[in-house]
Amino acid sequence: MTHITSDSNFIQFYSPYSDNPQGARQAPTGAETGENTMTLARKMPMTKNSAELVYDGRSLELPVLEGSEGELALDINKLRQDTGLVTLDHGFMNTASCTSAITFLDGERGILRYRGYPIEELAEKSNFIEVAYLLTYGDLPNSAQLKAYSEQINSHSSTRAELKNLIQSYPADAHPMGVLSAVLSSMSAYYPEFLDQDLSKEKMDAVMSQLMAQVKNFSAYAYRVGQKKPLVDSNSSKYDYCSDFLHMMHGGEVDPEVARALNVLLILHADHEQNCSTSTVRLVGSSKANLYAAISAGVSALWGPLHGGANQAVIEMLQEIQADGGGYKKFIAKAKDKNDGFRLMGFGHRVYKNFDPRARIIKQACDTILAKLKIQDPLLDIAKGLEEEALKDTYFVERKLYPNVDFYSGIIYKALNIPTNMFTVMFALGRLPGWLAQWKEMVESKDTKIGRPRQIYTGPITRNYKAIHER
Ligand code: CMC
Repeated sequence: MTHITSDSNFIQFYSPYSDNPQGARQAPTGAETGENTMTLARKMPMTKNSAELVYDGRSLELPVLEGSEGELALDINKLRQDTGLVTLDHGFMNTASCTSAITFLDGERGILRYRGYPIEELAEKSNFIEVAYLLTYGDLPNSAQLKAYSEQINSHSSTRAELKNLIQSYPADAHPMGVLSAVLSSMSAYYPEFLDQDLSKEKMDAVMSQLMAQVKNFSAYAYRVGQKKPLVDSNSSKYDYCSDFLHMMHGGEVDPEVARALNVLLILHADHEQNCSTSTVRLVGSSKANLYAAISAGVSALWGPLHGGANQAVIEMLQEIQADGGGYKKFIAKAKDKNDGFRLMGFGHRVYKNFDPRARIIKQACDTILAKLKIQDPLLDIAKGLEEEALKDTYFVERKLYPNVDFYSGIIYKALNIPTNMFTVMFALGRLPGWLAQWKEMVESKDTKIGRPRQIYTGPITRNYKAIHER
């Protein structure tokens, strides 16, 4: 790797769940990981290239930085200081807000990897808790580390009565995303020990594990309240994470096929670099607000239909098409009509300009799980027909609009007996490890500063106050 300049560029990983007798924190060694840790992560090094910006007779050299997958970026850190200029970039289409060693995404080639591992391999071979560990601590756990991590999550399996009461105080028709965001924020009232501005590593590990356990519980409880059914408590000594969640939702025994399908779905949602909700978690966290506040804000950002809320919107759209007689061509025409606000939900992506690799896996999983559960859902046929029609249409081809992760996921959730208004909660449950890992990376980075974008003011210039009778 020619772009490593010195050892100080290496970001070291550590695992708090090491099986060493002293319990000392250790970075995974090459022998443990089977890889040279020097290849795992590094700071973004400068290339020999630079760009020159000429403005008002002065010139500024902008260094060109290179990520570990060859992504290039202009370093504009000195721009305002040296020229007085800022950049304007609506929706951050061209702006990297941080460097990160967690997730690599190449939207042109349809690639997604967590800590270097292809999403396809993780979905096939791993489970959600192992992936959560991978995202948070940088490498796959060995069996002792995985056991210790699971035990720490399970040690937070019970939910305080006050928080259960809070969830039960909401009306049954409350949207569970609103309930989840509110109860997460309320955790700050009950766990003052985790509100310090700068948490110790031990507290950081504890609060992240607590959230892994509690978001599972809150999600299942919110569902039960919506169903007007009594809450079912966690039984984490019997069940693995996903089975425990299904047990808490539906009670009784858990079908292993259903638990496996849920594992795959949660893995596919676990991180997606600097998306809207993750950027929100980082932004809120950058002010040193507590982790509960940051994750609660992430849930709120995810709720929107252009982001995680799209999975609910897709099923509602497919049901609308079904109710209309199943003719999806009319809906494609509506989506193309610029005078019609309708969009094909579950289609298009800010970063993927090729097939979303998660959608490819989910589409296949959809066929498999429906066959295993012997379910025939006409919405799946409508979705496939809609996809086929859209992918032939020049409007979608020219704009590189493909099905995204949300297009088929709702059909699986429906088959798993999860109601539509819970779909985005399922996304939140899956995305939690990504939020935690990104928050941890942010608070541990020396480069972190409070997130505070500039603006270009376009309002009125100075004017003087007029008394009300003069207006
Ligand atoms: N249906 C119809 N036209 C679309 C769609 C769509 N779903 N998505 C984008 N377009 C058009 C858009 O009108 C624009 O056309 P033109 O260039 O003629 O003005 C062009 O494609 C580019 O779209 P954009 O809105 O500028 O792209 P963006 O990167 O700002 O937005 C998006 C990305 C995901 C918000 C958008 O594609 C969309 O609204 N999709 C539907 C909602 C959805 O499925 N969201 C889930 C995203 S994946 C999961 C997640 O991130 O949480």
